[in-house]
Amino acid sequence: MRSHVHPGTAIRRKIRGPLLALLVGALGAAPALVAAPAAHAAESTLGAAAKQSGRYFGTAIASGRLGDSAYTTIANREFNSVTAENEMKIDATEPQRGQFNFAAGDRVYNWAVQNGKQVRGHTLAWHSQQPGWMQSLSGSNLRQAMIGHINGVMAHYKGKIVQWDVVNEAFADGNSGARRDSNLQRTGNDWIEVAFRTARAADPAAKLCYNDYNVENWTWAKTQAMYNMVRDFKSRGVPIDCVGFQSHFNSGSPYNANFRTTLQNFAALGVDVAITELDIQGASATTYANVTNDCLAVPRCLGITVWGVRDSDSWRPGDTPLLFNNNGSKKPAYTSVLNALNGGTSNPPTDGGPLKGVGSGRCVDVPNSSTTDGTQVQLYDCHGGTNQQWQSTSAGELRVYGNKCLDAGGTGAGARIQIYSCWGGDNQKWRLNSDGTVTGVQSGLCLDTASGGTANGTLIQLNSCSGGGSQRWARA
Ligand code: G3I
Repeated sequence: MRSHVHPGTAIRRKIRGPLLALLVGALGAAPALVAAPAAHAAESTLGAAAKQSGRYFGTAIASGRLGDSAYTTIANREFNSVTAENEMKIDATEPQRGQFNFAAGDRVYNWAVQNGKQVRGHTLAWHSQQPGWMQSLSGSNLRQAMIGHINGVMAHYKGKIVQWDVVNEAFADGNSGARRDSNLQRTGNDWIEVAFRTARAADPAAKLCYNDYNVENWTWAKTQAMYNMVRDFKSRGVPIDCVGFQSHFNSGSPYNANFRTTLQNFAALGVDVAITELDIQGASATTYANVTNDCLAVPRCLGITVWGVRDSDSWRPGDTPLLFNNNGSKKPAYTSVLNALNGGTSNPPTDGGPLKGVGSGRCVDVPNSSTTDGTQVQLYDCHGGTNQQWQSTSAGELRVYGNKCLDAGGTGAGARIQIYSCWGGDNQKWRLNSDGTVTGVQSGLCLDTASGGTANGTLIQLNSCSGGGSQRWARA
């Protein structure tokens, strides 16, 4: 994991802090892992409710509305992440070549940070909203302009932006699976990876995202094309950290339940995922809850951003697609999202007990009921002893004997999993995922057995997440 030595670090550590595993669904015939019931009262705002699972809930903010107190009151109360709706785009930040203007972008940034919110950056390389001078460029001149733009904007916001949408909407709609034709695309197919490499060098601390729409349905050609690009980038070491799913759902591009599969499949490539511009035509409460639960079900889903506060703030107000109506009242969709974030749809039946390996049928066990810090845990026949009872806490720990925690003795594949006195570190926090995998909060790696073993005495360690039977656990 890269080190993050910048002002955003505190914010990022904060959102990766106390984690409550939220689980939905079942794990085949085996009982799924279940989360601890919230030890705290349900939260009453979207941001606070999302934070319970280490996520954020954000909104697009338009600088022109920051003087509207009804708008800022809701935005400040409900959201803990902000995306500038238009103010960090190319036309806004570099109106003349080489002359940058961050006035509007900074208005949004400063409002967000002064109110304790993190900021997503949107967007650095895009076919749309290019200033006139850029629209007329082509070839190597345009390529250099793109690089200069990324460098100029990222230098201004260096260390301040948690996620940047480096490239936006580069794939064509429809069934071709092709890149979208644009002046940037015509500079050469490698323009996207050049943008990401430039961005990594410009601000090594920012998570670098590719962002697009109509890529939520796993069966769509555009989704597959984006997946193939990300897989290729990961295999060749192109620096990409996250994929943003805009999630502008409407009758032509409706929500489909396979969105969760899409998120899971991208996460399995080794990138984070985020829902970046959510709005839903008609704002069905059920669909909003489904989208929220899809994000909650995927450990690498960082958070959700809705594309505006009230319906009247939306880029498509006629669709009434947001969580607040024109007079600022909460809509039914608001309540369904809040309930989902609070875990109201999962109703976990238990918060402790054995962790039984789906592949082995054996339990996570402390050898010889040792209480010594540093004892590596193992697989052993499930017998219900206290050395096999793992209690989830609201902080995301898995405790045994009350005061010892399941503890990762490192952050890489092969790191030993041991018991250690609970101290609140991220290496003692775990996400219990709905597919049965258990992810270390510090490492992002999965609880696994050594060499995928199933025998008594097989040691438990961290491994890259594959979703295999040796990495799936159920409450026995
Ligand atoms: O500010 C000017 C105003 O001075 C002028 O009088 C008026 C007349 O047209 O235009 C105003 O600018 C508009 C701007 O929004 C601010 O309201 C632009 O015309 C309009 O094109 C622009 O639309 C934005 C759109 O991106 C442009 O592509 C929307 O606000 C914004 O919500 C939308 O956001 C995009 C994401 O960036 C990418 N994904 C899709 C999403 C929705 O289209």
